[in-house]
Amino acid sequence: MTSDIFDEIFRNTLFGTSVFKDETKLFREYIPEQLPRREKELERISRDFRPIFKDKVNFPVNIALSGKSGVGKTVLAKYFCERLVDLSKSLNKKIEYQYCNCYTYRSKSAILYHLLSKLYDATSRGFEPENLLLDLHNRLKRDSKKLLLILDEIHVLNTDEILFFLQFTEPNIYYILISRDYFFKKILNVNLSGRINDHIKLEGYSKDDLIQILNSRVEAFKQGVINREIIEMIADVASNTQNARHAIEILYHAGKIADCSKNDKNIITAEMVREAKNYIFPETSSKILKTLKKNELFAILALARCLLIEDCPDVSIKEAYSYFKIVCEEFGMKPKTQNMFTKSIKQLIDLGLIIQLYNQSKIIHKKPLKITLHDVPAQILEQQLIKLLKTKKNSK
Ligand SMILES: Nc1ncnc2c1ncn2[C@@H]1O[C@H](COP(=O)(O)OP(=O)(O)O)[C@@H](O)[C@H]1O
Ligand SMILES: [Mg+2]
Repeated sequence: MTSDIFDEIFRNTLFGTSVFKDETKLFREYIPEQLPRREKELERISRDFRPIFKDKVNFPVNIALSGKSGVGKTVLAKYFCERLVDLSKSLNKKIEYQYCNCYTYRSKSAILYHLLSKLYDATSRGFEPENLLLDLHNRLKRDSKKLLLILDEIHVLNTDEILFFLQFTEPNIYYILISRDYFFKKILNVNLSGRINDHIKLEGYSKDDLIQILNSRVEAFKQGVINREIIEMIADVASNTQNARHAIEILYHAGKIADCSKNDKNIITAEMVREAKNYIFPETSSKILKTLKKNELFAILALARCLLIEDCPDVSIKEAYSYFKIVCEEFGMKPKTQNMFTKSIKQLIDLGLIIQLYNQSKIIHKKPLKITLHDVPAQILEQQLIKLLKTKKNSK
C-alpha cells in the first residue's frame, strides 16, 4: 500500500502535468538567446575585442566588468564569449573561451591546472605557476589559437596573482575580469590600471528592466501560465535589490509551487508569488533566523549592513565589528567585546549563514580572514532581520 502511494507520487512528480514547458531556461547556468537591457554593454565589449580578429596586432586586450550581485556580469561575459567563438568558427579563426570562477579555483596554480587539463588534457601538477602559464602560452601559440578567459569573482585572488596573469604582452590570452565595483576601485589605482583596457560598470536593474528580463524568460512556461500582473509583481519585489537573479528565482519558485498545488487551472497566482518571495534565499528564511540568539542576529545584521554600505564583496571581522557596535546601540544593547562577536560569527559560519574565505597565500597569518554572505542579497537579509528584531522587542 505505502509503496503504491509513493509510486503514485513519484510518477505524478516526474511525469504529471506541469506549468513548465522547459524549466532549464530558469536554471542559473542557462545562457539566454537575448540579453535585454545590456545591448550597450555588449556593443562596448565587442568594440574592445576588435583586435582579437587581427592576425598581426601584438597587444593584449583585457577588460574588467563590475557591478552588484545579479546585474548580469557573469551572463554578459559568457554570452559575449559564446557569440564571439561562434563567429570565429565561421571566419576560420581559432578562438576558444574558458570560464573560471575563483571561488572554485582559488589560486593561480588551481586556475592553470584547470585550464591545461581542460584545453590540453595535460596533467602538470607540481610545476611552478610561472612555468604553467608559459606552457599554456606556448601551446596556444603553437596551435595559433587565442583564448578568451573569464576570471569571475576575482576578488578571491590577490593583486599580485591578478597581475601575474596579465604580465605577458603577447596576446594569446584575452582576459575578462569580473568582480564588484569596490574591488576594482581598490585595484585599478594600483599597478593594474595600465593592464586593463576598459572597465565596464553595470548598473542595477530598474523595475522596467526586470519586466523585460522576466518577459524574455516566460518561454520557460506553457502558454497562459503567467500574466502581465504577475510579471509586474515579481519585478516590483526584485526592484528593491535591482537583482535579476532575485527576479528569476522568484519566477522559478512560483512555478514549482504551482506544480505542487491542487489548483488544476495551471496558472501562477499572486499568492504563489508571495509565497515564493518569502522562500527565495532560504538561508534567510525566518524559520532559521528565529533559532538565532540575539547576539547572533545583531552580528549577522552588522555584516549585512557592512557589506551594503561599504559596497564590497567581503569584509574582515574587525570591519564588521565596527558595524556591530552601531547595531547594538540602535537596539539599546551594550555591545559585547570583539572576541565575543567573533564567537557569534563562528557560530553563524557553522550554521552556513556566513561564508569564511580562506586565504591561500603563504602569509596567511598577516592577512585578516574575510567573511561574506556570498549569494544572499544583504538588503533582503537586512529587511528580514529588522522585522524579526522588532517583533522580538515588541513581544517583550
Ligand atoms: N539582461 C539580462 N537578460 C536576461 N537575463 C539576465 C540579464 N541579466 C541577468 N540575467 C540573469 O539573471 C541572473 C543573474 O545574472 P548573473 O550574470 O549571474 O549576475 P552577476 O554575475 O552580476 O551576479 C542569471 O540567471 C542571468 O541569466
Ligand atoms: Mg556572477
